[in-house]
Amino acid sequence: MKNKYSFIKRRIKNRSNNEKNNIHNKYSGVVLRIFLFILLSIFTEILVYNRITFYFQISFNLVFLPLWFFIVELALRKNQLFKLHSKNYWAAFLTPLFLNIILNLLVYKYINIVAISTILSTLIVTLLINYEVGILAGFIFSVYFGILFGFDLKFMLFLFLPAFIVAFFSRKIKRRIEIILPFILASLTQMIFSYIININYSVFDYLIILEINFFSVLITMGILPFFEYMTRVYSEIGLLELGNLSNPLLKELSLKAPGTYYHSMIISNLAESATETINGNSTLARVSAYFHDIGKIWRPQFFSENQKVKNPHVNISPKLSSLILNNHVTYGIELAKKYRLPVLIEDIISQHQGTRVKQFFYNEYYQETGIKDSSMFRYPGPIPQFKESAVLMICDVSEAVTRSMQEINPIEINQKLDEIINSLFLEGQLDDCGLTLREIKKIKGRIVKTILEMNHKRISYPKIDVEELKE
Ligand SMILES: [Fe+2]
Ligand SMILES: [Fe+2]
Repeated sequence: MKNKYSFIKRRIKNRSNNEKNNIHNKYSGVVLRIFLFILLSIFTEILVYNRITFYFQISFNLVFLPLWFFIVELALRKNQLFKLHSKNYWAAFLTPLFLNIILNLLVYKYINIVAISTILSTLIVTLLINYEVGILAGFIFSVYFGILFGFDLKFMLFLFLPAFIVAFFSRKIKRRIEIILPFILASLTQMIFSYIININYSVFDYLIILEINFFSVLITMGILPFFEYMTRVYSEIGLLELGNLSNPLLKELSLKAPGTYYHSMIISNLAESATETINGNSTLARVSAYFHDIGKIWRPQFFSENQKVKNPHVNISPKLSSLILNNHVTYGIELAKKYRLPVLIEDIISQHQGTRVKQFFYNEYYQETGIKDSSMFRYPGPIPQFKESAVLMICDVSEAVTRSMQEINPIEINQKLDEIINSLFLEGQLDDCGLTLREIKKIKGRIVKTILEMNHKRISYPKIDVEELKE
């Protein structure tokens, strides 16, 4: 009874801690916004003091801020990632945007109005979050400068069009070199548009546009890792760099827990291809699979894939076994924080086991004591909160089950996967992830296909005498 209460207390404590964290996250996002608005107002006043007056500050407060709260805040509150990690995602959206506005105020003051460019912030926000939010960043930037120059709609459009183009064409970028196309298209759009609306630009002005956009792209590439480290929101480029197998953390995993390392590699293939079928972030799925069991570098021998001869669980109680298994999740979270892995990878580490019961130890405990208490044998959770996290959970269980199968054939593997997914579904593990039944069906189909492909039998080659093969 005492144990039961202590577990309930711990769960309530965990929940209230989560709530506290959410509130803390929410308010630190608000503080960041207020701080940046004040900073922006002060910078505008200092840098463009001669041209604007009282009039700008009034329009800023009466037009820009209401527009911000009605468009930006409402749009971003619906975004699942902003809901999950508001502090990190607000930082990934606001800091590049406001930094770019302040840089362009300097450019305007010391270079030329022609040199104002949205590319830097739009590109960073698109790469870090997604292209819709990138377009929103471009829109806000254009509105700000439009207001600054006396509600100049043409100028607003002149800034917004290239932002739209650059965001749209960089939405699938995975390698740095691919940035060239959006840069060229955005610069061309900007030049053609200025020609059409008859802004009297000289050839020199067009060259400035090209140059500034080019520098914006260069700065983006240089500054991107800094934003990733600071916000723990990673672009696909950053994720791929992180998933480099010579990463020290992954090297440590391969040395200390080779079985887990191999298991993670298989899951990365399964998760990547399964996520592709639902148009999810397959790079996130692949890289988070590498790290999902990283906590197993502590006491690797307690996990079946690393056991060579004896099973250390034989000598300890089922309750202690359960605690040790839980630790691969909690220690994994600790490592994710320490090495500043992306927040979404930390989520996947904490969610990949959900709140599932370790049935083997639960059963053993029941046989020993006659007490049925599943709470002692549950993983700490939470259950998957987004699609890629759920895909990883399904792949993890599927890989473990297929590894225990003697013979892999299509009928049997289909049946097994149906059982696994039904069980996860009925346990409520997939309740919060947002996957539809159609998507679950697609994921299952792709996992079966990939497992069959990975396990296909090689034809046996006839043995030929080495002498015959000599030239
Ligand atoms: Fe695990
Ligand atoms: Fe695993």
